[in-house]
Amino acid sequence: IKVLFAAAEAVPFIKTGGLGDVIGSLPKELVKQGLDVRVMLPLYRDIAEEYLDQLTVVHRLVVPVGWRRQPCDIAQLKHEGVTFYFVGNDYYFNRSGVYDHPDNAERFAFFCRAVLEALPKVEFQPDILHCHDWHTGMVSVLLRAHYAKLNFYSGIKTVFTIHNLEYQGNFAPDILGDMLDLGWEYFTPDRVEAAGQVSFLKGALNSADYLTTVSTSYAKEILAPEHGRNMDGLLRKRSGQLVGINNGIDYQQYNPRKNTMIYTSFDARSLRRRSENKRQLQQDLQLEQHLNIPLMGLVARLVDAKGIDLMIAALPDIMALNTQLTVLGTGEKRYQQFWEEAALRYPGRIAVNIGFDTRLAHRIYAGSDLFLMPSRYEPCGLSQLNALRYGSIPVVHATGGLKDTVQPYDSMTGEGTGFSFTEYTPSGLIAAIQQAIEVYNIPKAWNKLIRSAMKQDFSWQQPAGQYKELYRRVLV
Ligand code: GLC
Repeated sequence: IKVLFAAAEAVPFIKTGGLGDVIGSLPKELVKQGLDVRVMLPLYRDIAEEYLDQLTVVHRLVVPVGWRRQPCDIAQLKHEGVTFYFVGNDYYFNRSGVYDHPDNAERFAFFCRAVLEALPKVEFQPDILHCHDWHTGMVSVLLRAHYAKLNFYSGIKTVFTIHNLEYQGNFAPDILGDMLDLGWEYFTPDRVEAAGQVSFLKGALNSADYLTTVSTSYAKEILAPEHGRNMDGLLRKRSGQLVGINNGIDYQQYNPRKNTMIYTSFDARSLRRRSENKRQLQQDLQLEQHLNIPLMGLVARLVDAKGIDLMIAALPDIMALNTQLTVLGTGEKRYQQFWEEAALRYPGRIAVNIGFDTRLAHRIYAGSDLFLMPSRYEPCGLSQLNALRYGSIPVVHATGGLKDTVQPYDSMTGEGTGFSFTEYTPSGLIAAIQQAIEVYNIPKAWNKLIRSAMKQDFSWQQPAGQYKELYRRVLV
């Protein structure tokens, strides 16, 4: 089976969030399982320099974007067994920043069109075009509208994965003709229209042959208004072609036994070595050096969706529990400010780093006792999987992928891998942390919990198998 992934980001080239992790790791596993999977990405200026240096342009073409004729360079690079194609256009992508631009409609209209135009040039005729999130939402629409009659494209099927329904790529209606070469007959709810706008996401939800999302719980949640973001009606209609497949993580990159970014390597049988990571982390973050005070980690975008509002409301009570907290992330200004001030208010007990720091993130997974993830909603979530792998016990809001991947601790049987709360309230979060700390104070039970967490298998092996099965189903 030949599959082309089209997406806006992929590790290690460019990453702003979980989408980048998935596109950087799932294809590798699919290739390992015998599929020919290649990936197409925009050629951003911000791509890590060591890779930019390796890129050579292999094809030049012209891509129509409405009335415009845009030059387009295709560069190519093989990375860990996967072929990556980079779609370049100086005007759209040779600038800093990935998403924060006012002309995103035009930039990603170009990218969607370029993906289709590039396929015959690079001589890759996929059985399946697998697109991810709104940035690539118009690929399946344009395929049907402009290409499906051509021999090369006529047999191509499409799959679209929703990584987050919140981001829809909705723009003013005039982009329809001006950027997508589509007539007004497309401006209907069963094509691309959503509340008076042209929606890249809706285009995909209506036109892709099959839809997936990144956890089984989220696949159900988005069928109802609370999490459906105005797309629940349409998703209910398409629920026969919608499936949830849980994300995995890259087990080579996230490996406490081999990772050189953490202070000391360890595994489930050498938990004493794990404590060394805690000691060093406390030292580096200038937290009080106590191995028996529970150290909590929070690594997230500092936005409401990640439950930062809840954390703030609960903070005084959480700190009253004799805990330490370290926060790493960027996001809304008011939240960045709040955490910087909190660090000053609780010296030696709260450590805050505003920024993006992969190494520190790994050190927090390896050195913290509890990992907080009180997300309001969570399509899948990857950080709790990293935390489990490193033996930091997740405390999560039981929603979406968090519900599917963290098994609540049962004090009767001693089974489980973390702690969760169902009511999205500060008191819910506080109660879950309290419960965790009770177990933390019984070393034998706590070590058993860490070992169960570390024993879980959240590699891509199984999910990749599910994608493979899905591709087969789509192709019959
Ligand atoms: C988005 C979602 C997150 C998911 C990730 C990768 O970032 O918010 O829950 O894990 O995509 O699919």
